[in-house]
Amino acid sequence: MVWFITGASHGLGLEMVHLLVARGERVLASGRRAVTELPADFPDCAYHACDLADPNAVARLRDWAAAHGPLRATVLNAGAGHFRPLTQETAQDIDTVLAINLNANITLAHGLRAVLSGGRLGLIGSVAHKGAAGMPVYSASKAALDGFGRALAEEWRGDVRVRVLHPGPVATGMAERAGRKPDFADRLFLPPRITAAALLRALDAPRGADRQTVSFLRVGMHRLLRGTT
Ligand SMILES: NC(=O)c1ccc[n+]([C@@H]2O[C@H](COP(=O)([O-])OP(=O)(O)OC[C@H]3O[C@@H](n4cnc5c(N)ncnc54)[C@H](OP(=O)(O)O)[C@@H]3O)[C@@H](O)[C@H]2O)c1
Repeated sequence: MVWFITGASHGLGLEMVHLLVARGERVLASGRRAVTELPADFPDCAYHACDLADPNAVARLRDWAAAHGPLRATVLNAGAGHFRPLTQETAQDIDTVLAINLNANITLAHGLRAVLSGGRLGLIGSVAHKGAAGMPVYSASKAALDGFGRALAEEWRGDVRVRVLHPGPVATGMAERAGRKPDFADRLFLPPRITAAALLRALDAPRGADRQTVSFLRVGMHRLLRGTT
């Protein structure tokens, strides 16, 4: 039985892969970058490079993951966005963010349904799904993902456990790469490794809400209960 993680080449996804491989799980990892561009300490696991903005590449990724099934768990974690007002977005950038954060995840969930039977599906949203000024397109993509996940949780209940997990801001550098200028609030960003552990814990737990916020409080509780990770 295998775990499949997207967005595994950096940030939260990479941290999840480190944690899973360390606990002896078999992991299928995917990220946009080529295998030669992975960090030197990338864990020993299968890796498939895929640009989720390209529907043909998404279909190839789906087939690759399905061929390794059954999947014990899939975490559709990859995400991207821009920190800028709507009027400064371009039509192409809007399409790309929706393709990565929403369309690719729907395609993957649809195509992997059979190999997910008896397993779990985690969709990584964001607290921005409630609507966050400065990132309207990203917020919209995460709100749509939230609705998709809630619908699947109901539809697949009793067979596949579906959870939509919404982290608060995390110190992976994503916000800065998206164009947000660092400020004093960065000190409150969640630590990536501990947040990744909290996400896995939320997905592993047999009981729990279909949609959960992974906040500072929750990550702090996790840290208290489990030590540093
Ligand atoms: N960081 C935050 O503050 C925060 C808060 C709430 C929710 N989230 C969500 O948490 C998830 C992980 O975020 P993160 O902070 O770990 O971000 P990150 O450090 O920027 O990593 C993003 C991951 O997604 C991959 N990715 C981006 N665009 C892609 C594309 N076109 N095709 C395939 N893969 C692509 C990246 O691949 P490459 O690196 O190889 O390009 C990378 O592995 C995302 O869904 C994000 O929206 C993040």
